[in-house]
This record gives sequence, structure tokens and C-alpha cells, in this order.
Amino acid sequence: MAITLLVASSDEHFRELVRDNLLNMQNAKVVAEYPDVSGNLYIRVLQDLERHPEAAMFFDLASDPDGGLKTLERVKQAAPDMYVVASNYAGDGESVLAAVRAGANDYLVQPVKRIEFRDAITRLEHAPRRAAAAGASKLGKVFTFLGAKGGVGTTTLAVNFAGVLAQRKQRTVLLDLDWSANDCAMQLGAAPQYTLHEVGENLTRLDQALFEGFVTRDPLGFFLVGPPDSLDQRAYFSEPMFREFSTFLIEKYDSVVIDAGRSLTDEVTLGALHSSSTIFLVVDQQFPSIRNAQRYLAALVRLGFSQDQLKVLVNRYQKRGSPDYATLEQIQQTLNQKVFYGIPPSPHVLNSINRARPFVADRQSAPELDRAFRTFVDRATGVKKDEAAPAAKAS
Ligand SMILES: Nc1ncnc2c1ncn2[C@@H]1O[C@H](COP(=O)(O)OP(=O)(O)OP(=O)(O)O)[C@@H](O)[C@H]1O
Ligand SMILES: [Mg+2]
Repeated sequence: MAITLLVASSDEHFRELVRDNLLNMQNAKVVAEYPDVSGNLYIRVLQDLERHPEAAMFFDLASDPDGGLKTLERVKQAAPDMYVVASNYAGDGESVLAAVRAGANDYLVQPVKRIEFRDAITRLEHAPRRAAAAGASKLGKVFTFLGAKGGVGTTTLAVNFAGVLAQRKQRTVLLDLDWSANDCAMQLGAAPQYTLHEVGENLTRLDQALFEGFVTRDPLGFFLVGPPDSLDQRAYFSEPMFREFSTFLIEKYDSVVIDAGRSLTDEVTLGALHSSSTIFLVVDQQFPSIRNAQRYLAALVRLGFSQDQLKVLVNRYQKRGSPDYATLEQIQQTLNQKVFYGIPPSPHVLNSINRARPFVADRQSAPELDRAFRTFVDRATGVKKDEAAPAAKAS
């Protein structure tokens, strides 16, 4: 049986020790490491369990035993079915008992000997385990739109996705992380006075009232927060800030929709990808975007994302035969992955951008586009799971 592990330890040597010990074990790997063992760890753990419901955890208590036990307790409350191996230098009964009471299933005394580690893995393998129920948490879902190329429609799809969720009474935040474009505000006709810059400055005292008081509320009902319009303030929002902010968002809102632009190198974007429940990789039918999608998918899989979390969207999808455009079969063959959905082209898209309102705000103008888009949202949120996508049907 394959073993997937999450490792919580602020000590680099401990994390390395786990990795080293796994080297000669087939089918065992670390899928996430948490150097920051603090109160909100359970959020990241829950998100990773959505991707790896079978995962077990190594939890190092050595650097801060009291704080660590509290964090472990919260993690176990959030994920009671996850198997946890706690570890510390102290091997006395009291220490072991405290770890067990916090929810540990097993305990390893440090320094950990190779044979002891192997025995712990054997016990873990034989322990009856129920997979953590995916999607069972009450935390908000993060839907991230990532463009495989510029101009494929990433912003348009993110904006309208947030619009439909808000129309469905989901508490939704649209987060624009495309720092150089800031196009979400443009597409919504908004000129936000407060931006991620202010979010960063106010993180320590951020609560829902403060947040909603200073960010923009779209008439459809979702909140918009994005980069400052001037390009030189980028440095004021770091990846640790994003982590704290995203924790706030997924605790307080049903859905967070992110326009990630197309950067895979920006540290905040990477943080966003890591906090995502679903990543929509947006392509069109032109060969450069398909080729880039191939590179993006490979990189994302290397970063630990599972294929079912990465959904390929073909925007402006047409079942046309032209040497200049890839067919659905070609796309799926090149990407070695099913296309999740195809959004049809419509002149109404540009029209609605020019009017600075999402096309989903006006259901009558382009009913076909509207219907297709809503079916996409249904499938993405699991409303009509079994319905085949128009794009997939076209094959
Ligand atoms: N389904 C569609 N049908 C017709 N036109 C579309 C469609 N989707 C997007 N477009 C058009 O494509 C253009 C680019 O859209 P958008 O700005 O959303 O793309 P993007 O990938 O976010 O671009 P950028 O790389 O600049 O961030 C817009 O003019 C928009 O009107
Ligand atoms: Mg864009």
C-alpha cells in the first residue's frame, strides 16, 4: 500500500530525517512539509488531506512541546481520522501520554533510530485507517484560475465564476493576484481604494468587519481584493502574509476565487496554488498555449498536485477543423489528460468587458454562453458531477 506522509517540524534535520528514512522504502513519500508549526496548521493539513486523504502525519514536538501539543490537538480535532506519529526527545510516560491525549496514534523517541522508524512505518501500514473524508471540512474552497498563456481568458473566467457563486448566495471573495494587470477591477468597473497592500498592513487586526469595510463589494455580492494600481508596491505583500490572509479567507468565506495570471514563479502565486482546492488551467486551441499547458501541468505535478485537482479549461472552444487550431483530441493527447470543460466563444464577452460588468450579470443577452458557463460552475462545484462537458461530448 502506498504511504503518503505530512511532516510537521520546524527543525530541518527532522524533516530531512523522515525523507532520508523513506528513501529505500518503495511506495512511501512525503507530500507536504510544514516548517511553520503554529495554530493555523490544521487549515493547511485539511487542504492537503483533500488531495491526499490517506496521508498520515509525523509531528515533531521537540522545538516547542507545549505549543506543539496544542497545535496537534487542533489538527486532530479537524482531522480525527488521520494517523499521527508524534515525536520528541522525552520518552517518559508522562510525555508519551500527553502526546496520546493530544491525539497521537504512535510515538517515536528522538534521536530516531532507523529501525525504530521502520517499525513505526510498519505499524502505520497495519493500522486500520479511514481516509479523511474529502470535502467534509467546513472550510471555504479555493478555486484558482491560471492561464497557460496571456490573453486566453483567465481573468474573464475568474470574474464570472465569482459572479455565479455570489448569485448562488455563496459568500465569495475574488482575489486578483495578477499584480501587473489588475484586470479584475477593470472588468468589474471598480476602482478599489484599498488593496492587498492595506490587507498586508492590517493583517494582525484583520477581522471580517474590517475586511468587508475596506474592500470593494461588487453589485453581484462578492468581495474583490487585488493589487494596488501602481506597480511599485508589490513588495509589501509577501508569501507569509498571503498564508495568513488565505487562512482568514477560507475560515470566513465559502469560496475564494483567484485570478493567478500566468506566473508559476511568483512566491505569492505559488502560495495561492498550494492553498487551492482546484486549479483551472486555462488554455485556448492555439498550439503555443497547449504547449505551455504541458509544461505547466508537469511543473504542477512536480509540486505535488494530483491530476484530479488540475482541471484543463479550453476557452473559446470550437469544434472546428482548422490546421491552426488543436482539436479536443489533440489537446487531450498532448496533455495526457481529459479536458474538464470547453467554454464557447461569444462576442458578448468583449461586449460585457467594455461595459465593465460580468456577462453572467445579464443572463438574457447571451443565453447560450450563460448556460454553458453555469454548467461549468455546476461541474466545478460538484452540483452536477456526472454531466458530461460540452467539450468532452464533442469528442
Ligand atoms: N469565451 C470567450 N469568447 C470571446 N472572447 C473571449 C472569451 N473569453 C475571453 N475573451 C476575450 O479575450 C480577451 C482576453 O481576456 P482576459 O483578459 O480575460 O484574458 P487573460 O488570460 O486574463 O489575459 P491577460 O494575459 O492579459 O491577463 C478579452 O478581450 C475577452 O473579451
Ligand atoms: Mg488576466
